[in-house]
Amino acid sequence: MEEDLLEVAREAAEEAGELLLEGREKKREVSHKSGPTDLVTQFDHASQDLIVSKIREKFPDHSILAEEEVEIEGNDIRWIIDPVDGTTNFVYDYPLFSVSIAVEIRGDTAVGVVHLPVLCETFWAIDGKGARLNGDRVRVSNTGSFEDSLLVTGFPYEKDLVPQAIEVFSKLTRKTRGIRRDGSAAIDLSFVAAGRLDGFWELDLSPWDIAAGSLIVREAGGTVTDFQGGEHDIYDSAGIVASNGLIHEQFIKRLS
Ligand code: IPD
Ligand code: CA
Ligand code: CA
Repeated sequence: MEEDLLEVAREAAEEAGELLLEGREKKREVSHKSGPTDLVTQFDHASQDLIVSKIREKFPDHSILAEEEVEIEGNDIRWIIDPVDGTTNFVYDYPLFSVSIAVEIRGDTAVGVVHLPVLCETFWAIDGKGARLNGDRVRVSNTGSFEDSLLVTGFPYEKDLVPQAIEVFSKLTRKTRGIRRDGSAAIDLSFVAAGRLDGFWELDLSPWDIAAGSLIVREAGGTVTDFQGGEHDIYDSAGIVASNGLIHEQFIKRLS
């Protein structure tokens, strides 16, 4: 079952990625969502339409939650889709954007796919079966000390939350080797899974930003929690902290 879901998720993500690559050559029509920095383009909608119709064709009974206002009530298998994670990057042709697709079975994430069209990289995981990048197993880093770690974060669109995020950013910059800000939470999580970064934190994300990436981190041997170190819930937790596991306790302590 999971293998079938994965196959469709991967195909859909890669086809949507092709569409986004074509979109790089065309004019992107930008409109605004919750605020002046929350952008959406015609390619976000086109990518989502492609993915949703592929899922509907293969699995007409499944439920779907997709970022650009699609919610379909079906059975207890639910697809969670971000058709372009990193839309601002996409608009500027900054090459770090992704397509993120997760599938939940009775509330637990069973499959996750994050596809980076420009880098030709597809990360995926099945619950209990490890994480892969273009078919090869990936594992989190083995950095054991917080001071030696390279982290990544993002800043919320909700401007009232920015000062708090900057304060934490400033504090952690002084305690680590450095912090990146790449603009796609799904990529941030995938890079933690691949050991390219040691950890990621961010406030105020949505389920479609993190559902696939969180599974990929866990399946790569990493840890994903809320800001207090408790169980992370993609729908309810205010913040997410993901790491290689080894630095997690120090990470949580420094965040508090
Ligand atoms: C955004 C990206 C970004 C994060 C934002 C998200 P979008 O998703 O994941 O890294 O900082 O909070 O909303 O809007 O490009 O799909
Ligand atoms: Ca997103
Ligand atoms: Ca998006």
